[in-house]
Amino acid sequence: MSGGGTVITIDGPAGSGKTTVARMLARRLGWGLLESGSLYRAFTWILLREAPRLLESPEETAVANFLRGILPDLRCELGEEGLRIYFRGRRLSEELRAPETEARVSEVAALGAVRRLVNEILRGLVRERDAVAEGRDMGSVVFPEARYKFYLTASPEVRARRRYLEWKAKGLEVSEKEVLEGIKARDHKDSSRREAPLSIPEGAVVIDTSELSPEEVLRRVLAYIE
Ligand code: DC
Repeated sequence: MSGGGTVITIDGPAGSGKTTVARMLARRLGWGLLESGSLYRAFTWILLREAPRLLESPEETAVANFLRGILPDLRCELGEEGLRIYFRGRRLSEELRAPETEARVSEVAALGAVRRLVNEILRGLVRERDAVAEGRDMGSVVFPEARYKFYLTASPEVRARRRYLEWKAKGLEVSEKEVLEGIKARDHKDSSRREAPLSIPEGAVVIDTSELSPEEVLRRVLAYIE
């Protein structure tokens, strides 16, 4: 199980713990960690910087054509700690979590032509290295043939509490109620969109993480794999 082509998918809504568990699992296996959301974030940031007018009333073909045009300037490396994305030699990191990016990414991720482009890049990356792929549609659309598929979930209240504590630790001023409203709005958007809505992939093992620590979730995931 090494050298590329083997994929374990972990999907789920925001705050389900999928990113934490995917990171722990990738580290444990020595595999790449494919955080698909980073690519949507990178494209959103690039669009905001290079072609903001395309986002005024996004037309999917125009947006995807623009993004295909900048591909020679984009480099992605699949590391154990996540996807490293470079645009014109500059490593994108803070930019991906910037409020402007955060505010627009779900619009960009709703465009079918952009999703197809992202999916091509993701599939290319795992040819080089075995990976834990984390996102919303990894097991359902991008890697339906994945060796193992997991879907993590938790109640909206638990997920909101996790996000709230995360943001508070970073010094951000938000109320738990606001975070909960944001989570519910995002859930609705992600599961009702036309393109690749958030859903439980066929054959996925569902784990409710509401009452579990990340270590306990990892233990369950490893129990299935081993
Ligand atoms: O996981 P994240 O918060 O970094 O994801 C950023 C955005 O991209 C979020 O709005 C959901 C979307 N996304 C998606 O539509 N499909 C994926 N496979 C991963 C992320």
